[in-house]
Amino acid sequence: MGRSGHACSVLGSLLLLLLLLPGPAAAQKGSAWKTLSGDAPAVIAKGGFSGLFPDSSDPAYLFAASNQDSAQWCDVRLTKDGVGICLPDIKMDNCTTISDLFPKGKKTYRVNGVSMTGWFSVDYNSIDLTNVTLLRAILSRTNRFDGSFTLVQVEVALSQYKAPAWLNVQHDSFYSQFNLSMRSYILSMSKQYTVDYISSPEVSFLKSLVGRVGRKTKLVFRFLDEGLVEPSTNQTYGSMLKNLSSIKTFASGILVPKHYIWPVTADNYLQPSTSVVDDAHKAGLEIYAADFANDFALSYNYSYDPLAEYLRFIDNGAFCVDGLLTDFPITPLEAIGCFSNLNNTKADHGAPLVISHNGASGDYPDCTDLAYQKAVVDGADVIDCDVQVTKDGIPICMSSIDLMDVTTVASSQFASQAGVISDIKAVAGVYTFNLTWEDIANNLKPMISNPFGQISLSRNPRNRNAGKFMRLSDFLAFAKGEDLSGIMITVEHASFMAEKLGFGVVDAVIKAVDDSGYSKQTAKKVMIQSTNSSTLVKFKQLAKYNLVYKIDEVVKDAAPSSLADIKKFADAVSVSTKSVYPESSNFLINQTNPLVKSLQSAGLPVYVYLLRNEFFSQPYDFFSDATSQINALVHKGGEGGGVDGLITDFPGTAHRYKLNSCRNMGDKTPYYMLPPQRGGLLGVIQDKAALPPAMAPEPVLTVSDVAEPPLPPGWFGGERCGGSLTGGAGSSASATAAPPTPPRGSASDGRPTWSSGTTTAETTPTVGSHNCRFTYTTLLPSLLFIISIFSFSVCVRA
Ligand SMILES: *[C@@H]1O[C@H](CO)[C@@H](O)[C@H](O)[C@H]1NC(C)=O
Ligand SMILES: *[C@@H]1O[C@H](CO)[C@@H](O)[C@H](O)[C@H]1NC(C)=O
Ligand SMILES: *[C@@H]1O[C@H](CO)[C@@H](O)[C@H](O)[C@H]1NC(C)=O
Ligand SMILES: *[C@@H]1O[C@H](CO)[C@@H](O)[C@H](O)[C@H]1NC(C)=O
Ligand SMILES: *[C@@H]1O[C@H](CO)[C@@H](O)[C@H](O)[C@H]1NC(C)=O
Ligand SMILES: *[C@@H]1O[C@H](CO)[C@@H](O)[C@H](O)[C@H]1NC(C)=O
Ligand SMILES: *[C@@H]1O[C@H](CO)[C@@H](O)[C@H](O)[C@H]1NC(C)=O
Ligand SMILES: *[C@@H]1O[C@H](CO)[C@@H](O)[C@H](O)[C@H]1NC(C)=O
Ligand SMILES: *[C@@H]1O[C@H](CO)[C@@H](O)[C@H](O)[C@H]1NC(C)=O
Ligand SMILES: *[C@@H]1O[C@H](CO)[C@@H](O)[C@H](O)[C@H]1NC(C)=O
Repeated sequence: MGRSGHACSVLGSLLLLLLLLPGPAAAQKGSAWKTLSGDAPAVIAKGGFSGLFPDSSDPAYLFAASNQDSAQWCDVRLTKDGVGICLPDIKMDNCTTISDLFPKGKKTYRVNGVSMTGWFSVDYNSIDLTNVTLLRAILSRTNRFDGSFTLVQVEVALSQYKAPAWLNVQHDSFYSQFNLSMRSYILSMSKQYTVDYISSPEVSFLKSLVGRVGRKTKLVFRFLDEGLVEPSTNQTYGSMLKNLSSIKTFASGILVPKHYIWPVTADNYLQPSTSVVDDAHKAGLEIYAADFANDFALSYNYSYDPLAEYLRFIDNGAFCVDGLLTDFPITPLEAIGCFSNLNNTKADHGAPLVISHNGASGDYPDCTDLAYQKAVVDGADVIDCDVQVTKDGIPICMSSIDLMDVTTVASSQFASQAGVISDIKAVAGVYTFNLTWEDIANNLKPMISNPFGQISLSRNPRNRNAGKFMRLSDFLAFAKGEDLSGIMITVEHASFMAEKLGFGVVDAVIKAVDDSGYSKQTAKKVMIQSTNSSTLVKFKQLAKYNLVYKIDEVVKDAAPSSLADIKKFADAVSVSTKSVYPESSNFLINQTNPLVKSLQSAGLPVYVYLLRNEFFSQPYDFFSDATSQINALVHKGGEGGGVDGLITDFPGTAHRYKLNSCRNMGDKTPYYMLPPQRGGLLGVIQDKAALPPAMAPEPVLTVSDVAEPPLPPGWFGGERCGGSLTGGAGSSASATAAPPTPPRGSASDGRPTWSSGTTTAETTPTVGSHNCRFTYTTLLPSLLFIISIFSFSVCVRA
């Protein structure tokens, strides 16, 4: 395996990079952890940063090793000539190109009594494996790094990747059938190198090492699923858990699947924790939890927020595990360094502003009482209402004008009323304005939004139809009594409502806000958001609100003349995440858009939409970690986005971000809380055929994008203003004077869907060199890491 030249060049550039890095996290000093030692829990990177790169590959190890905060895990396998390699699976065909290189190499062996068929390392000398490369073992991850990196020998991992080393020996007795001694191999490694941990699920193997490894090497007994039988004692792992003191005789710690500690129900809800952490600690054993990955289906209790899951294991008030074994080491590092022991009592509504999107719509159906209550409990600064109108002229909060999208109307008596309204959308819908408020409130149920339903990431099924619909007046009354800095009312389709329904939505909103007493208070800001400048112009003429212009295109900048125009009718702007961090096929590209700075220099605060927790919604550079994305968007200076507010389906995650102890640390910011280097991850893709398509530069927002014909008058709902609807003295946009104009760009521009955060499954070309069988990937975005990877761009395979 002629790979050491390669590793050296990669390492050289990495070392350079490390010199530039801030020192290790300064956070958490002095806090007492409920671990056995009282120290912060360890983070163990399974096969390196295997959530992003093929497990046990050079980039995976280098990335994780770029700081010594996490230990490097290697699953040790032996070749025919007794050389140790790191590979996540005993079957090499699970994670390498071996079957392409040795098509006839398939064998069937008994592994701990179970027959297995595949390609096994014991059939090959190490030299035979020179050209074998690594593949991702989890097919839902990106395939763009597949086939580019050769196998890593255990010795190379131990000698070159400077981080605590954890060797896992999943199979010992298997190798003795081939006259290979795993024990001798491990002992020889531990004599030559520092090995911090050795784990195995086989009792006899660990017992054979007791007293023969250095005192600093921890022996860790690995529990497999409860029902499986441990080969040397013939007991199930479940029964062995009942006698931890016997394990203490040969191990200093145990490694358990995470469900041993926080079990989940069959439908993936979290159950109360078991006593296993306390039991282990009482027996004097450290306890490590396994199976963490940001892109696995987390229990619904975590609202798709992987950081929340880590905190359950380390910061729950009752216990703390001694270590976490994960495919995404950056997220537990954040949890330990910046998000533990947060003081959740303060709600100062400072920047960044957390603005809900349809309430806490990640957890409850859009715009329901429960979604709004949850948003408030979760710490939103501003809650939002997307206004629609009913047949009887009542403004309601509903995220879609088409009830098919967000209610059970399809299975109701009103389903037959479906029709096409080409001004709104090309397919048939049942519209809010076709039903009365009574019809809706009494006969329909809300339906939770499921933006990633197509890849089986459904939102909390127990809340699928929970909650009650809200009229705008209900929303206003609710918000008034809560600790919020403001409300945001989103108004679209104003001209459709005026022309086709004769409904003046602007007047109706103003009246509802007045009726609810908001004009008599100053504590809560009333924000109005629209993508249509003429709607905001109208509001500006009639009332004193904080007007937010939503730019629905992805743009890199706003022309100075368009800024001047926006300033005429808006006080703030909302922009897409992609305008702040341009991406191609879920990879950030090396491009920094001036947009946010341009808007801010013009005095316009910038809010970014749309944030979601589901890993599928973020570019890979953010490591499938919603917090990492938020951090990058908010971070000021350097590669940071520097935005002023976050519009999100999951206000709890954004609010928790505001409380973290690593904000405003300047130069002392720990590396895992720095924004990613744009384009850094793309630079690691070695196979040019696997690069995502180059992107055409994003356009610049111009005056013509902003300008709209004035809003036509509505015929009812305008009573409040009577003749004054004709409006704003001296205003250049004279609303009612203009005759109604036909809607522009009708059918194609239905209700803004806020869909910019959605990513669709992507088809990528077969990855080059090795004839990979996986011809497509559903790219699950993952996230980012730090600083990136930088160095990989200079690393040419030897
Ligand atoms: C590799 O093995 C793991 C664990 O058994 C399994 O989840 C995964 O689907 C396998 N991958 C492939 C490509 O066979
Ligand atoms: C690896 O590939 C190179 C170039 O194709 C070839 O010369 C060499 O013989 C191969 N080595 C093995 C062990 O297959
Ligand atoms: C292992 O060694 C024994 C004795 O040296 C020999 O009989 C046996 O064939 C060897 N087995 C293998 C798989 O090499
Ligand atoms: C292991 O246990 C099983 C069932 O408890 C039993 O049938 C089997 O004979 C045992 N094997 C050994 C080697 O003790
Ligand atoms: C637990 O294991 C110890 C040591 O192997 C043994 O002495 C003891 O009897 C076991 N206790 C139980 C309840 O099985
Ligand atoms: C998880 O969520 C379910 C449903 O909301 C709830 O019943 C359960 O108590 C939660 N589990 C924990 C450990 O909080
Ligand atoms: C949390 O913050 C509040 C407000 O700043 C402060 O009054 C309180 O003492 C803090 N609590 C703890 C436990 O630090
Ligand atoms: C829905 O309302 C629109 C506008 O009033 C009307 O044109 C359409 O016929 C209505 N559809 C049904 C099925 O009532
Ligand atoms: C991004 O582009 C800048 C300017 O062209 C360049 O200096 C930098 O090295 C690039 N970064 C990456 C990661 O490619
Ligand atoms: C914006 O509103 C005006 C009238 O208020 C309308 O004519 C125009 O079509 C709307 N623009 C879009 C993109 O919906």
